[in-house]
Amino acid sequence: MHKVKALKFNPDKLNGISKKQITLHHDRHYASYVKGKNNIESALKKGKLEHIRELKKNESHNGSGMVLHETYFGHLGGKGGKPSGILMKKLKSDFDSYEKWKKEFLATASAGRGWALLCYDWSDNKLHNYAVDFHDEGAVWSAIPIMALDLWEHAYYIDYGPNKSKYIEAFFKNIDWPVVGKKLQECTSSVALKPRY
Ligand SMILES: [Fe+2]
Repeated sequence: MHKVKALKFNPDKLNGISKKQITLHHDRHYASYVKGKNNIESALKKGKLEHIRELKKNESHNGSGMVLHETYFGHLGGKGGKPSGILMKKLKSDFDSYEKWKKEFLATASAGRGWALLCYDWSDNKLHNYAVDFHDEGAVWSAIPIMALDLWEHAYYIDYGPNKSKYIEAFFKNIDWPVVGKKLQECTSSVALKPRY
């Protein structure tokens, strides 16, 4: 049984994202994916396989929605600015500079109809920006999302209406970069466990 993870920051204190926006997003939308995943797992456990295709499609949709939202909420509540340490070093190494990475990430965000993701990819041990529609269309099997930008309208419409670019600016002001850096550290320190292809 998966549980809804509580927000680790004060929803009143985000910079440019309102309490109403973030709590509805968390309590209504994210929680529904957790509930959906639990319902599917429960049906599978009971051996209810009559609608297996629908179940499996929904398992991917809800499970991916759960994981990506936990990544997203997990690195909000920070001070924004720029990353440092191992993360900055890796961005420079894989994209030439932070600015070049950000330019590509923002372009990726304009292309995605679900999420823009900064991922650590086990296939080459490098960082990549990936665009995903819904929660799972465009997923790369060898990649772990270390930063997730939710581009669904439910993430910003209360605050910004159709002005998605203003929401993305606000998102960057609230990133907790040390949390993203820690996730990268976890990935790179596990390279010895990298699966073989
Ligand atoms: Fe969302």
